[in-house]
Amino acid sequence: MSHEDSSRRTERGQTLVVVALAMVALLGMSALIVDGGNAFAQQRGSQNGSDAASEAGATVLAHGQLALASGGAGKTDAELAYALDVHVGQINAESADELLVLNKLAGERGLRQRVALRLNPGVDPHAQHKHISTGHAGSKFGIEIDEAEFILNNRGQFQHLDLAALHVHIGSQIHDPVPLAQTLERILPLAQTHAIRALDIGGGFPVAYRNGELVTPPEEFARAVHSRLKGESRSFEIAIEPGRFIVADAGVLVAQVQATKHSYGRWIVVTDAGMTDLIRPALYEAYHEILPVVQGLPVGELADVAGPICESSDFLGKERSLPRFETGELLAVMSAGAYGHTMSSNYNARPRAPEVMVRGDRYDVVRDRETYEDLLRGERMLDPLA
Ligand SMILES: Cc1ncc(COP(=O)(O)O)c(C=O)c1O
Repeated sequence: MSHEDSSRRTERGQTLVVVALAMVALLGMSALIVDGGNAFAQQRGSQNGSDAASEAGATVLAHGQLALASGGAGKTDAELAYALDVHVGQINAESADELLVLNKLAGERGLRQRVALRLNPGVDPHAQHKHISTGHAGSKFGIEIDEAEFILNNRGQFQHLDLAALHVHIGSQIHDPVPLAQTLERILPLAQTHAIRALDIGGGFPVAYRNGELVTPPEEFARAVHSRLKGESRSFEIAIEPGRFIVADAGVLVAQVQATKHSYGRWIVVTDAGMTDLIRPALYEAYHEILPVVQGLPVGELADVAGPICESSDFLGKERSLPRFETGELLAVMSAGAYGHTMSSNYNARPRAPEVMVRGDRYDVVRDRETYEDLLRGERMLDPLA
């Protein structure tokens, strides 16, 4: 490396995550919005619209309507007890076993807990990767329709639970409203026969990850839901769980080029950010636009942008038209606001990147860069002679 090269290289570890707040109005109707994974909630058109968003293990709005629930396919007794203790509006249950535990815990507390049954409708959402399909045969999520029928026929067993809702989330980044309509087709008979009051139809609304990409707007999903429901004799409260749709475009992952090389005819740009910072490309072969932070440079040969981690899948993007980067230069991985930091890890002993909130021309660090001390916190040395 020449002296000039080394002077272009700034301090190592430049990776950071830039988050700009973006709240979007969804579906144009007063729907309940619940994010399954991250306990984020907002209700449009509510009296307390301004305080309607919050982040916590469980969320109840001031007017007591929300509704947060799903922690995944297997919740521990302690998690369920916590949800009950903080009076979560609705818990989405994924198995009969979970219902039994919940019923017992609710009974011990003298509560009657509102519950949604998360169903596996057995529908293929035609997602871009198999790891983001969740409502098909063989998926670990949800309760099969026949079993749900059995549970609802025996709801007397769960006297401390109000089995008020059905929940489905068939996958992520779904471009076609038809699988959602098919899902409704599968669950509505159950909803009708068992006096279900609410349907939580999950998330998965598509985000444009590529420049100029046109994706199905949420209105089309709303239309599909509306046209399927309008003939029904009962009406249902509808909840949606938009995750990425709200925040994906609000975040950018900024990385610094650490090395560049030719290898067997490919031009490889290695950055200090990788799958520990944004795992979507490695886990789902997801596409994220990559842009040079300094615009206007001439484009070089196609580049494979790789992370530094000891995994062959650790690429942020392949065959990208980018300037001929040199070490020290910065690039931005776009639409990294969802499933970025939340899915980050310390794998390869990598401290997590800081998060920076940008508001207009102002920025603030909202999460510090982790240190090596952070990585070791909580570890204990054993006395080898003890
Ligand atoms: C139950 C549930 N609902 C909603 C979502 C949000 O999905 P997306 O971010 O694709 O909209 C997820 C994501 O994992 C989920 O597990």
